[in-house]
Amino acid sequence: MFVDFCASATLPVLDIGAAYGVATIPALATGATVIANDAEMGHLRILKDNAPPQDRRRLILMGGKFPRHVHLAEESLAAVHASNVLHFLTGPQLANAAASIAHWLCVGGKLFIQASTPWQKPFESFVPEFEKRLAEQAEWPGWIEDAHQRFDHPKISQIPNAIHLLDPETLSKTFTTEGLEIERCWLYSRRDLAKGMKLDGRESLGLVAIKRASL
Ligand SMILES: C[S@@+](CC[C@H](N)C(=O)[O-])C[C@H]1O[C@@H](n2cnc3c(N)ncnc32)[C@H](O)[C@@H]1O
Repeated sequence: MFVDFCASATLPVLDIGAAYGVATIPALATGATVIANDAEMGHLRILKDNAPPQDRRRLILMGGKFPRHVHLAEESLAAVHASNVLHFLTGPQLANAAASIAHWLCVGGKLFIQASTPWQKPFESFVPEFEKRLAEQAEWPGWIEDAHQRFDHPKISQIPNAIHLLDPETLSKTFTTEGLEIERCWLYSRRDLAKGMKLDGRESLGLVAIKRASL
């Protein structure tokens, strides 16, 4: 979806947590100018090496932690993509992230998110607590500070100790608060998700939002 949208982009697009370029490289192939952001500059250097030489002049590397170290002009982006990265952000950082994205997108610009939910096997024991927090309208019901102590799953050491698991209600509210319109927000099971992570088909969250007018 993000990549298809890039084909019509007349402004640069931003890929947050781009890593080695799984989305950036196909986005570049559409002819778009892509700003690849990652907290790890080493990942971005590998991304640049992986990018086809004819696309490299449209690749802008932006190292640093999002949202704090990413600075862009108002209405300067056609699209923003954030896949498997928002779980690294605390609630207040996520709120700042939403404000920044809404500011950077042009009118008609779109946001594409893929995120982890609490409905994954390692977090199964957290689901009742999460659903209680959600029912009580906690601001950030999926925030967990001590995942390594809480959960006993073979994959837990590969997951950050402080992790922000997201659900459609919380994520939609975060972006509508900043004036974006949610086009679609849905739960699904990623085809490439490790078998040991699967729970009940709601392991991943997708969100597509649009900026309809200047804010
Ligand atoms: C799990 S990988 C996701 C890579 C790719 N987007 C994907 O969907 O496969 C997460 C990436 O986000 C980066 N990252 C973590 N926290 C970040 C932050 N606050 N700002 C920017 N990048 C961050 C990591 O260095 C890593 O490369």
